[in-house]
Amino acid sequence: MSDVDSLITRLRDLETEALAAVDAAHASDALETVRIEYLGRKEGRISGVLRGLGALGPEERPRVGQEANRVKAALEERLAVAEATLAAAEEAQGAPDLTLPSRMPRLGGIHPVSRAMDEIWSIFRTMGFTRARGPEAETEWYNFEALNTPLDHPAADEQDTLYLEGGGLLRSHTSPVQIRTMLAHEPPIRILAPGWVHRRDTYDATHTPTFLQIEGLVVDEGVTFVDFKATLAEFARRYWGEGTRIRLRPSFFPFTEPSAEVDVKRVVDAPEGPVETDWLEIMGAGMVDPNVLEAAEIDPDRYSGFAFGMGPARIAMLKYGVTDLRTFFESDVRFLSQFGGGR
Ligand code: PHE
Repeated sequence: MSDVDSLITRLRDLETEALAAVDAAHASDALETVRIEYLGRKEGRISGVLRGLGALGPEERPRVGQEANRVKAALEERLAVAEATLAAAEEAQGAPDLTLPSRMPRLGGIHPVSRAMDEIWSIFRTMGFTRARGPEAETEWYNFEALNTPLDHPAADEQDTLYLEGGGLLRSHTSPVQIRTMLAHEPPIRILAPGWVHRRDTYDATHTPTFLQIEGLVVDEGVTFVDFKATLAEFARRYWGEGTRIRLRPSFFPFTEPSAEVDVKRVVDAPEGPVETDWLEIMGAGMVDPNVLEAAEIDPDRYSGFAFGMGPARIAMLKYGVTDLRTFFESDVRFLSQFGGGR
């Protein structure tokens, strides 16, 4: 093999080796190392081969020179492509991935207890009730004494609550709104008063120290026990459906006489056809005690009335088959989304 041929062979071997080195390099500093190793002016390996030109005759040198230029150009081109590819990849890393599927917007839903409150309200509204409200920070007089509950009465212990500095307390029921409404308005009165109440209760499956109540009060001339029972029976049928029955169980509240616990028996669908549920307690109620009317400056010889208090969370539990009250407070979307919305 002539000297020319052996130089050309060496150049081609270097070309193959250098192109492979470019392909193997995945960072710009690695590409720079390849460039210096093969194309460097002084130390570069192609320059090293060209140092052998001196031993050739003048007519032989151009062949080798041309081949060296071709190899250099091929290597430069491969390096330029590799650098451009790398730069594009680096830029894409910080950029948004446009192929990512979009997230569905989360739609909020009505909380099941709020839904129960809305449904209860919409039923009583059609029966001529209006809405009333009272403060959560109450006085002992509104929360107990005006409601015929002396402070040393056991009923006051049952509704033990949080006391505020200066003698106030967090109301233990919505019944103080009865007094506030009667003091502010002449009968006829038909109100529904929803709101938060507070008791010294532990947080467990059936109690929460803070919970919602809905108070109802009707006061007018000639209101009887029949009006009382018929109103609640009509409410139960509209809320739980035709066939729902109510039962009044004798009970005691200082502010009603007589007093009752109201139970409902519902008709539910079962594989073998409609079946009746057990009796379930839904509220406390009764005819307004004359002492309460007097405390609220309403003449008990002229007026009479009835009152009731229910817990919408309890009612939502019965309606939706929820077994632990605490789930209503935990804001877990997996629980809440079962009631519609909240996707
Ligand atoms: N206030 C009573 C309670 O919280 C419920 C009730 C309201 C009972 C109105 C009778 C009349 O337990």
